[in-house]
Formats: sequence, C-alpha cells, structure tokens
Amino acid sequence: MDRVLSGMQASGKLHLGNLVGALRNWVRLQDQYECFYFIADWHALTTGYAKPEDIKQSTQDLLMNFLAAGLDPDRCTIFLQSKILEHAELHLLLSMITPLGWLERVPTYKEKIHELQDRDLSTYGFLGYPLLQTADIIIYRAKYVPVGVDQVPHLEISREIARRFNYFYKEVFPEPEALLTEFPKVPGTDGRKMSKSYENAIYLSDTPETVEQKIKTMMTDPARKRRTDIGDPDLSPVHQLHKIFSSKEEQEYTAHGCRTASIGCLDCKKILIKNVLAVLEPIWAKRKELVDNPDILHEIVNKGTEKAKKVAQETMELVRDVMGLGKF
Ligand code: TRP
Repeated sequence: MDRVLSGMQASGKLHLGNLVGALRNWVRLQDQYECFYFIADWHALTTGYAKPEDIKQSTQDLLMNFLAAGLDPDRCTIFLQSKILEHAELHLLLSMITPLGWLERVPTYKEKIHELQDRDLSTYGFLGYPLLQTADIIIYRAKYVPVGVDQVPHLEISREIARRFNYFYKEVFPEPEALLTEFPKVPGTDGRKMSKSYENAIYLSDTPETVEQKIKTMMTDPARKRRTDIGDPDLSPVHQLHKIFSSKEEQEYTAHGCRTASIGCLDCKKILIKNVLAVLEPIWAKRKELVDNPDILHEIVNKGTEKAKKVAQETMELVRDVMGLGKF
C-alpha cells in the first residue's frame, strides 16, 4: 500500500472549511493508503513563538477533532511532530543543501509576512517553514500528500530538495506528490473564504447556539434588502453552503424561493442550520466523550508516535549512513 502523509498546523481551532476541505478527505484515504497524520506543533511556533500556550490548546483541540471527525487510530497513524525529534535532525541536515533563494522564492513566504504584519517574522525558523515541512514529508518516504492548493508550492520545494539530496548522496527519497482533491470552496459568514483570520468561521468547537446565531446573521445576496425583493442565490454565501450541506431538493427549493421571493432569507437559513447541526452533532458527541476521557487521547498519540518514530528512525539511519555521519 502506498504511503500517505499529511499534517495540520496547531494554530487555532478547526472550522467547517477545514472539515470539508481536508479532514473529510483524510478520513476517506484511511482505507486506500497507509496513512500518517500529524499535528505540526513546531510549525505553529514559526509564527506563534511568542504565545506557546496557544499551541498546546490548539493541539488538544485538533486532536479531538481528528478523532471526532472519523480518523480511526486502528486504520491510520496519528502523532505529534514535536515527539519525533528525527524531523528536526533531518531539517538540520537538509538546511545544509538548501539554497536560500529557494526558500525566499516560495510565494507563501512573502504572503504570510504581509498578512501577519503584527508579528516579527524575520526569523530563521519562519524562512525555513517549507524546509521543515519537507523533512516531515520525506522522512516517511511518503508517496502522496493530501493538501489544499495553497500548499502546492511547499510540495514543489519538497520535491526539489528530495531530488537534490538524492543527487548529492544517494537515492534515498522518493519525490512526494500532492494529492489534490476538488474541494468545494467554503465561504465564511461574510462571503469571503472561511478563515480564522477573517473572523467569519464556524468552528467545530462552537455550541449549537453559536452555530445558529452565526448562520442567522450570515450575509446573503446584498441586493435582497426586503423580504419581497427577489434575490440571486449565486450571490449568496448561504447558497454556497447549501451546496455543501443540503440535499439536492433543498438546494432547488431554497434557490427557487430566493429567485421568486417566495421564501425569506431566514427560512433559507433555517434549513441550512438544520443540516449543519446534523453534521456537527455526531462530532460534538464524540468530542464530549473525549473530553471526559483525556487518557484515550494520550494513549492514541503514544501509540501513533511509536509507530511513526520507527519509520523516521529507519530513514535517519539511512540518511546518516549515506552522508557518512558518525563514522570515523
Ligand atoms: N503547512 C501545512 C499547513 O499549513 C501543515 C504541514 C506541516 C504539513 N507539515 C506538513 C502538511 C507536511 C502536509 C505535510 O496546513
């Protein structure tokens, strides 16, 4: 079975966009591949180094959501990046052969610096973000990496670095490939892409009341000001969410109702609320189980870490060997 690896950065809570865009895909891949999934807590430090307590919180939240959304520790390996020190060793060794220009050219580098102007990101660690990600991936000699399109430049540099290593030393690393799936774009409550930085997200850890409130106050077609005005569902983020969470009949009913003003925006939103709650309720139920049994989380991560470590150690023995390290 081919190996799949992916990670999520431990910064902030998981929202519906992450669920639909990434996590559901990870769940699906569990039976098709040998899957390794981890929480990138070191990556969270590249931008969140001044607030490490938030990372701990996010790690716990992510872990619960992984399990609540259906990752099954019997069918995949779940672990924490910071527990596998071999990633750091490989990152260091790769840093020796990585031209600075390659890192500076990664588009996310300048974008993030621009986006997070409240932080000082002129650090060594932040520039090395994609290199650490490369180490995460190739240490498992993973074939596929399920990620969103935003991560494609990181996969590109991972492939280049794998190639460069193989060229200098020995053919150790396969070049990882991004596994892109067509994800529906998930808009947030203001119509922009759902993102924690826009404060427009519906979180997996929200309460039912909060979810209801967020959807009720969601933006719709701005031209539909009064109940009697007709609207264009294609201009309404509520309709976009219906496409993801509602049945075909409900989508047709609400779209038609919008175009003819036969239903109001609140009627349309009530149907969406029902469907989003139906997705979240089983997740909340499992989260609750886990909150009441924190030992289960530790057990799962310990088991996953052990499995991942074995693979990472094997690779590092090979790496040290082909680089001639530790021999004299
Ligand atoms: N950069 C990824 C993100 O922002 C997280 C990540 C870190 C990752 N290491 C990885 C993803 C390795 C895939 C493979 O979501």
